[in-house]
Amino acid sequence: MNFPIEHFAGVKTPFYYYDKNLLQKTLDTINTEAAKHPAFRVHYAVKANVDPTVLGIINQSGLGCDCVSGGEVETCLKAGFPASKVVFAGVGKADWEINLALDADIACFNVESIPELEVIDELAAAKGKVARVAIRVNPNVDAHTHKYITTGLSENKFGISMEMLDDVIALAVKLKNVKLIGLHFHIGSQLLELEPFAMLCDRINKLQEHVESMGIRLETINVGGGLGCDYVNPDENPIPDFGSFFDNYAKHLQLREGQELHFELGRSVVCQCGSLISKVLYVKEGLNKKFVILDAGMSDLIRPALYQAHHNIENISAEAAGVQDTDKYDVVGPICESSDCFGTDEVLPVTKRGDLVALRSAGAYGQIMASHYNCRAIPASVVL
Ligand code: LLP
Repeated sequence: MNFPIEHFAGVKTPFYYYDKNLLQKTLDTINTEAAKHPAFRVHYAVKANVDPTVLGIINQSGLGCDCVSGGEVETCLKAGFPASKVVFAGVGKADWEINLALDADIACFNVESIPELEVIDELAAAKGKVARVAIRVNPNVDAHTHKYITTGLSENKFGISMEMLDDVIALAVKLKNVKLIGLHFHIGSQLLELEPFAMLCDRINKLQEHVESMGIRLETINVGGGLGCDYVNPDENPIPDFGSFFDNYAKHLQLREGQELHFELGRSVVCQCGSLISKVLYVKEGLNKKFVILDAGMSDLIRPALYQAHHNIENISAEAAGVQDTDKYDVVGPICESSDCFGTDEVLPVTKRGDLVALRSAGAYGQIMASHYNCRAIPASVVL
């Protein structure tokens, strides 16, 4: 990627840089590919990134949004998303969050348990409203991804197991202040193969037949997100293969007449447009190693420490200066934890104090997961 390094001079590091152009191209690709399937509706999973400019661009492109907290619902409404395009998932919705969403008249609650369904009914009744709900089903499909980001196996806390679905549907039909409009699924994140999604379709096809045999007609099927990004070659594959992703669903999922298929894409929308830009504080010579010590740490980008994720590391100052010689470094942050490490034995151009380094593919689950650990500030955004 060509970084507009001239615009970075004087900006306090570390900061998140977002490439508006790539975000727009990604959104255009999503819209073009989804439009080939008239029943498809794409929501953006807001949890991946809520930078106001990024959110504004996504809203302008016409995507809806998928929220998992009252805070996210508020953020989306403030960013201008119409309530009619907001869906709200999550295993632990607090009463105030449900009330907020009821007041806003959001499109749908994705319900994850019987007690939650009862509470939504009760709170909706108190307001004289009928809440639209979809039941989140745990389809027991192995997503073959990191254990912390797989969500559709029966031992996960998410959703309602298929064995219990009949009871939940019967309850939803009985309750007066909820209206069952659909089924919701999400099997995991950062999936690089389409096969688990095809398996999900098989499960949904069977469930649909079963649900129809109970006399229920569903308006929507929501298959969540999960499409992965190329963290290894972000420049070769800056935009995920949305065409194949959507086609796979069109091929395997038997939608009914008039039924909508909803997606909740997070990572694939924003991952590649963002980088964490950091300054080299020191180059430290160890006994057998050299360390590049950055001013960004795990408080700014926790994915390597939490999921053993690797974000490509580029010395963009050395690249701009045409430095040819390389050396091998462990690239670490300033936080008092050994897990505060972005890469070991990284081959980089010869690096010096003051160089700017980009941690690539950090647009999703980067800035939003930043914390104040060690009393550090949350990194700011630069959107160009
Ligand atoms: N829908 C639901 C119900 C979800 O739980 C998620 C993500 C998504 C949609 C969006 O999935 P995506 O398209 O982004 O894969 N912090 C982790 C990822 C956690 C994902 C949680 N759920 C990471 O940094 O890899």
